[in-house]
Amino acid sequence: MAFSLRAANLDDCKDIARMIMELAEYENLAEHVKVTQKDLEQDGFSNNPLFHGIIAEVPEQHKTKEGHTKIGYALYFYAYSSWSGRAIYMEELYVMPEFRGKGVGEALMSKVAQLGLAAGCHQLNFTVLNWNKPSVDFYLSQSCFDITARMGYHCLRCEGEALKHLAQL
Ligand SMILES: CC(C)(COP(=O)(O)OP(=O)(O)OC[C@H]1O[C@@H](n2cnc3c(N)ncnc32)[C@H](O)[C@@H]1OP(=O)(O)O)[C@@H](O)C(=O)NCCC(=O)NCCS
Repeated sequence: MAFSLRAANLDDCKDIARMIMELAEYENLAEHVKVTQKDLEQDGFSNNPLFHGIIAEVPEQHKTKEGHTKIGYALYFYAYSSWSGRAIYMEELYVMPEFRGKGVGEALMSKVAQLGLAAGCHQLNFTVLNWNKPSVDFYLSQSCFDITARMGYHCLRCEGEALKHLAQL
């Protein structure tokens, strides 16, 4: 299947917001999505972008029945490891269901890896839900490893009132 990848731009934010919601629905976590198209426009495409994106597109003749040609995306940002130095963090990777199994996800992730290596990164980090076996298997098929299983890491978070409280101590 013909598809192409390119850097995301401001005009993609509507479709990115749509696909963020599709992914969150797939993960049964849609109620946690607070980010809007406007947030994405501000945070990703202002003078100091906080994230970057890659869009996967298909030609018009392969558009979905709803008329979408933007059918997948990866979001990423640069991070730092005190042990390994520069790192790239893949915040999300998503391919619309009808376009899965055609190499799009692999191509998107490979692009993030290329960009990371070009920027001097030594690691590509990301999280996946433990029940999301197809995606865990996809990542394992890309020779990624589970740092929770191998090194005992857990992802922790402070948010909402707890975050405000912590900031006031
Ligand atoms: C995970 C996801 C991005 C993979 O994208 P995709 O386009 O379907 O995957 P690809 O077609 O590029 O797969 C490339 C290779 O990965 C491997 N692979 C893909 N899915 C796999 C699976 N479920 N189990 C084992 N290997 C898998 C295969 O080796 C495949 O090559 P092959 O087609 O020659 O067998 C996509 O399925 C998706 O969007 N899933 C739902 C959203 C999601 O869970 N995202 C991750 C959130 S952390």
